[in-house]
Amino acid sequence: MSHRLLDGPKLVLATHNAGKLREVAELLAPWGFEVVGAGALGLPEPAETEDSFLGNARIKALAAARASGLPALADDSGFSVAALDGAPGVRTADWAETPAGRDYAMAMGKVEKLARHAPDRRAWFSCALVIAWPDGHTEEFLGEAHGAWVWPPRGAQGFGYDPIFVPDGHVQTFAEMAPAAKHAISHRAAAFAQLSAACLPRKG
Ligand code: IMP
Repeated sequence: MSHRLLDGPKLVLATHNAGKLREVAELLAPWGFEVVGAGALGLPEPAETEDSFLGNARIKALAAARASGLPALADDSGFSVAALDGAPGVRTADWAETPAGRDYAMAMGKVEKLARHAPDRRAWFSCALVIAWPDGHTEEFLGEAHGAWVWPPRGAQGFGYDPIFVPDGHVQTFAEMAPAAKHAISHRAAAFAQLSAACLPRKG
């Protein structure tokens, strides 16, 4: 299958989140792209109305590419529990929402309350990455990290649902691992590896 190469120099990152912008800018640094955020360009934030990670990333990437006239990269990610038919899934962030901001202790507590009696402990993180061009072409990648959910939460590193997720082949939760160890096996790393193999010029 032939993929469209991302040949820069400018790339819009379809996020208004400064932390994500920094993380992706770091991943792309070796290729010398100039990464600009959707917020800095004054682009609107489209509603995430799809029921899949890829669908929501596609909405964000296409909206940013069409509004800016530049290639745009968007992501969408979340946590899925097998015994809950993949929930919270695309609603992962919503489960943490409170009037006073996001509360992940509460969100993890919901998982435990709903799934504690189910023998099936499998869970996974997903990360969709979509690059869109102003002509409507997209390149789409989905990375997953599979493992099991545990209770009680353990570890103080990482973020979100990391304290209740133990990846397959490991004993520590994502929140107990050194950040570099998590990044080597994460859903985000898996998606980015596919993206760079398909769409980034080979380095060196
Ligand atoms: P998004 O920012 O709309 O893509 O929402 C992603 C949701 O999934 C947030 O609630 C994050 O906390 C959660 N999430 C995504 N990736 C991870 C991860 O690597 N560890 C823990 N939580 C994650």
